[in-house]
Amino acid sequence: MNIAVVGTGYVGLVTGACFAEMGNTVICVDTDAEKVERMKQGECPIYELGLPDMLPRNIEEGRLRFTTQLAEAAETADIFFIAVGTNPAADGSADLSAVMAVARQLGETIQRPAIIVDKCTVPVGTGEKVEATVREALEKRGANIAFEVISNPEFLKEGAAVADFMRPDRVIIGTDSEWAREVMGKLYAPFTSKNDRILYMGRRDAEMTKYAANAMLATKISFMNEMASLAEALDVDIEQVRHGIGSDPRIGYSFIYPGCGYGGSCFPKDVKALIQTAKEQGFDPAILDAVERRNAEQKKSLNRKISARFGDDLSGLTFGLWGLAFKPGTDDMREAPAKEVLAHVIERGATVLAYDPEAMDTARAELPAEWFESGKLKLVDHQYEATNGIDALVLVTEWKPFRQPDFDTLAQKMKQKIIFDGRNQYEPSQMKVLGFEYTGIGRKA
Ligand code: UDX
Repeated sequence: MNIAVVGTGYVGLVTGACFAEMGNTVICVDTDAEKVERMKQGECPIYELGLPDMLPRNIEEGRLRFTTQLAEAAETADIFFIAVGTNPAADGSADLSAVMAVARQLGETIQRPAIIVDKCTVPVGTGEKVEATVREALEKRGANIAFEVISNPEFLKEGAAVADFMRPDRVIIGTDSEWAREVMGKLYAPFTSKNDRILYMGRRDAEMTKYAANAMLATKISFMNEMASLAEALDVDIEQVRHGIGSDPRIGYSFIYPGCGYGGSCFPKDVKALIQTAKEQGFDPAILDAVERRNAEQKKSLNRKISARFGDDLSGLTFGLWGLAFKPGTDDMREAPAKEVLAHVIERGATVLAYDPEAMDTARAELPAEWFESGKLKLVDHQYEATNGIDALVLVTEWKPFRQPDFDTLAQKMKQKIIFDGRNQYEPSQMKVLGFEYTGIGRKA
């Protein structure tokens, strides 16, 4: 099939590359000319497992192209995926200006019957707005071309996006159009054995499904984080409780790991947007509000523990920080808990030695320049280098090499054997035997 993907952020690029990999002809459109040039050379602009190999391979085979011109894509494509950004506006609602601009351009440029797919996470009712905008632009040029606007939300996890796309749990196709259902069903058939994982529903239902999925997952995490705080107050070990409840298949083990809060590009943004949608309907989103509030608190949990141990003046102290990315497997630091920890300790006078296997460039680009200039934040090349002479180690992201470190090396290098573990990677009893002062999240001392 002939596909155009508009927007080459992580959703758009993964979508384009995976459809090309499955034998389709794909053209990816982005307004960033420099980025398009790099991608044409086969360079992958994001860190995503599997993607760097897929780009050059599919370009070489002639299945994947890049352009800055939507009109060029409109010459050949039958299916258009809109995958441009929907960053939150000031009130937390999704900013749809980029989506609507693409809709207008599609109305101005499509040449033949088109299926227009909302791939990015957009509020319920956006499909109607996109449809109206395309129609208006078509009418303006006096063109009578059939088109359908459908919702096909993505459920890709960063770091596992290619695998998630290739073997999806489900593919949601939101449209009442028989034509669009048939075309999309064929497009996704190779990704889902016997089509058994394709779910057809209404467009608004599909739009809501995406938000409900992320809000549910965020709720699980915030719920467990609340239980972890209560466990601390009650001298209970949350890890025992986690096992105790996860064994109930109705609850399940996934997404009930307490920690120092969720981050990333999706959960915080989508929960905020859903709250805003609810409020627009005159509805009080009590649970979502609480999920959001708990997460904001949770991202401060390590800071509170650090201040409880060292006081509020941290000058003269050096902290080691393991993990900058919002989760393992990505270089993304959007809404990363590490940012809160860094701000807290640096503002109170401490120095930090930080290490992350992938997010060092992101940290250099996103963190305040004055932290680096003042020498308050040093990014080091190795995880153990971040423990040289430190007063405490703070683990924020559970990258695999941090899970089972050489504690003898740590003990030798650290000035004080104190660990704050924001992801419950170590056993308090083992830490005690090894002579470390250890604080986890909801762990019994
Ligand atoms: C998420 C959804 O999983 C995906 O379906 C959607 O399309 C985009 O948003 P992603 O943001 O890549 O994907 O991250 P995910 O792996 O879901 O983790 C989100 C956050 O939750 C991370 O900060 C992680 O550390 C945290 N988390 C996850 C917990 O704190 N505890 C858990 O048990 C699970």
